[in-house]
Amino acid sequence: MTRAAPPLHILPDPPALFRAAAERLLEIGAQAIAERGAFHLALAGGATPQGLYALLTTPELAGRLDWAQVRLYFGDERSVAPEHSDSNYRMVRESLLDTLPTAPQVHRISGELPPEQAAADYAALLRTQLPQEGFDLVLLGLGPDGHIASLFPGSDALNQRKQPVVADYVPKLDSWRITLTLPTLNKTRHVILLVSGAHKADVLRHVLRNIGHANPLPVEMLRPAGELEWFVDADAARHIEHKD
Ligand code: 6PG
Repeated sequence: MTRAAPPLHILPDPPALFRAAAERLLEIGAQAIAERGAFHLALAGGATPQGLYALLTTPELAGRLDWAQVRLYFGDERSVAPEHSDSNYRMVRESLLDTLPTAPQVHRISGELPPEQAAADYAALLRTQLPQEGFDLVLLGLGPDGHIASLFPGSDALNQRKQPVVADYVPKLDSWRITLTLPTLNKTRHVILLVSGAHKADVLRHVLRNIGHANPLPVEMLRPAGELEWFVDADAARHIEHKD
């Protein structure tokens, strides 16, 4: 059975991409706070979302969300200390947390610990902090190989159905990662996939042409309980014949 393609928003350039994604994030967040008193948001790492995070701290947008009611989580983390240049927490601290007028509640993955311990600790934290329904929003980037969070093609972590968080050694990076597993990433009311740059055009074409086919890439294994939306820029969408 071929699944219908989820909503795909194509924006002309990265600033427009970050703006559109920011508006959607703020809309989801305000609704979560109004309806349930908190916004449980899992952040993406890597380079792409930095522009979105920085935009959220601008005077025009920062006041659009009651950040004191925001509970921030991480979709994955590198197995490094929080001050390490590879740390997703450091990237989020520098692009978002250091500049927000009001501090959210931040649940950091302890990358400084042995990876298995960091995964076990974060799993325990999610069990106590996350509502039964899961996240309100999971923000994800997309790797050129189709990975999401730190779920890479061919990894056993993709088959994990019991553990909410696992430690995974990534051979091609020769490094350990801590990552939420698919059941946890899928336990959310909304997913936003943020894809920018010509180097993502091939994987985006593959995913959008390949819907429902065999040998899915990690991103194609996403089956969120709620809504999945793609926010992509024109460079990433250059192979896509699609009108928003
Ligand atoms: C990470 C991210 C990872 C990222 C993709 C895309 O820890 O690196 O969680 O999944 O979203 O690798 O990364 P870029 O945005 O840097 O292209």
